This record gives sequence, C-alpha cells and structure tokens, in this order.
Amino acid sequence: MFSIFTIISALPLAVFSLSPPSSRTTPPTGAFIVRSGTTSSSEYASLTEAVAALPSGTSAVTIFMYPGTYSEQVDITRAAVTIMGYTEDPGSYTSNQVTITAGESAGTAGSDDASGTLRLHADDIALYNIDIKNTFGSGSQAIALSNYGNQVGVYACGLYGYQDTLLAEQGLQVYLQSYIEGAVDFIFGQTAQGYFEGNTLAVSGTGCITASGRDEDNDAIYLFNHNTIIKASDATTIDYTYLGRPWSDFAQVIFLNTEVETALEAALWMEWSSSEPNTDHVVFADYNTTGSGVPSSLDRPSWATALTSSEAADYTLSSALGTTSWVDSDYLM
Ligand SMILES: *[C@@H]1O[C@H](CO)[C@@H](O)[C@H](O)[C@H]1NC(C)=O
Repeated sequence: MFSIFTIISALPLAVFSLSPPSSRTTPPTGAFIVRSGTTSSSEYASLTEAVAALPSGTSAVTIFMYPGTYSEQVDITRAAVTIMGYTEDPGSYTSNQVTITAGESAGTAGSDDASGTLRLHADDIALYNIDIKNTFGSGSQAIALSNYGNQVGVYACGLYGYQDTLLAEQGLQVYLQSYIEGAVDFIFGQTAQGYFEGNTLAVSGTGCITASGRDEDNDAIYLFNHNTIIKASDATTIDYTYLGRPWSDFAQVIFLNTEVETALEAALWMEWSSSEPNTDHVVFADYNTTGSGVPSSLDRPSWATALTSSEAADYTLSSALGTTSWVDSDYLM
C-alpha cells in the first residue's frame, strides 16, 4: 500500500506550470480586428485606427492583430483594453508575428514618454504576443513601451530599443515570459511596482539594465525573479554590464534566481555617476545569481546586498504588487 504522501512525493517536480493557450490565431468574438492592408470595412489597417474606433467608457474591449509590421506610434488613453497578436505559440515571444515599430527619440519628441512607440496612459491593459520596437538606436533616450498604466500585464511580448527601452513609470505592472532588449538604463521609471518573471533580458551594448527612479521610501520596486540575461544577437561592443544604477537615491531593484549568460561586472551594481552617486538609500539586492556571466569572485559595493534564502523568500509577486488578481497566471511559473 502506498500512502498518499508516497504518491505525492513520487510525482516529478513541476518547475514550470505555464499554461497559456496552445494557439491564438483567430480573433475572439467581438474583437476589433487589425490586419495590415485590409480591404474589409469591418477591419482596421492599423492599430491607430482600431484604437480610435473603440467605444468610450470602461467596458472591456479586445483588439486582435493579424501578422505584419505596423509602422506607427500609438497612444492608448482608454482603460480596459487587451491587445492580442496572432501567434501559433502564445506562451513564447519567440514565435511572435506582429510588430509595432517607430523610431522617435526623446530629443526630437520632447520627452521620454513622447518618444514611445507604444504608450499606455490608461489602466487595466493587457498585451499579448506583440513585438514593440524603437529603432532610433544610440544617442538619445528612445522608448519602445512607455507604460503609465495601473494593472498592466505584458505577456510574451518583445520590447526592442537601445537607451531606455522600457519606461515602467507608475502603477502595478507585470512583464512575464517576454524579451526586453537594450543597452543603457533599458528598464527605468519612477513609482511603478513592477514584477518581471521568465523574461529574457538582452544586452546590446555598454550600460546598466535598470535605472530605478524611486525618490522616497515608497512602494516602488522592480522585482525580477527567474529571468535570463543574455547578450543580444545584434550587440555592439560591450565594455560593461551592471544590473542597475540609481536614477534616484531610493532606487529599489531586486534580482532573484537570475541566469546570466553575458559578462556582468563583479560589483553587479553601479553608482549613478561619480559626481552624483545616489547610493544613500538604495535597496539593491540579488539572490542566487548564477551562470557563465557571473564573475567567480563578486565584489558588491557596501550599499548592495546578497540576500539569504529566507530574505529572498520575502520578495514575491504579492509582496511587490499587493493586488494580483488582475495578473494572467497562465504566464506565471
Ligand atoms: C537558482 O536559480 C536557478 C535559475 O536561475 C534555479 O534553477 C535554481 O533552482 C535556483 N536555486 C535556488 C536554491 O533557488
């Protein structure tokens, strides 16, 4: 006779419990449909046109995008919008077939936010299987996704830029199973509570992955758990890569269980600049940082922490966000 305990403990350990749908190749009923080059009067040829056609109010609406490259800059100011890209593998960004692309710089556009290829200025937004690119390149801040929404989920998307790719500015945000590429401060913002899990962070040049602008002792945090850091396939020469530097002096960034495949500096963290270090009140910490890119002897500065396993266990999706019912748990491990 096997006891219940024996049976349970004999089950293989399920490390991944991702459960996204097996495909997403047809629009849900009632969706607004975007199809490049469409001649159908019931469809829209661009995301801009579909967004303009949304009813006012806060009813939940879905936009379904057929494969294609959409060259446009889009600002979403209406709440409760889900945008889904056609894909044969919703669980992975690697099969994405929808790209939204523009190449504005903050210098030309007037602000970081204004340069964003996709800008979110409303709450309760979900993005699935969309690649969002800012092709400006080096020389200015140039944002791919500018996210000012509360309760925004980014699922299996690709965010491509160089300097300041993702502006995770305010509210509760999750980035799950996605790809985020850049070189300089490429995940940054001020008061957002952001949770990042299962993403590939691709380094394309010299710089810091994060630049937290938390400027007082508030709930702002970027919590990373089970992400992989790689060198981007189109990377230029990389002089150094750090996990982050403090844009403001209460910067709070935690990296848990990171697999690192591109060379990190032994300090892991950098000061903002020698004249303005911003390190007085930072919370910079890591736990279980492993992989070929981690130097054999780490040399963290006095203002950074290597967490113990019990300290690391205090950092969870719930601890970072508070409210989590809005998160699509299909994309959580
Ligand atoms: C450390 O992180 C790796 C993923 O990078 C994971 O496979 C492993 O289980 C983690 N170890 C501990 C002790 O949590």
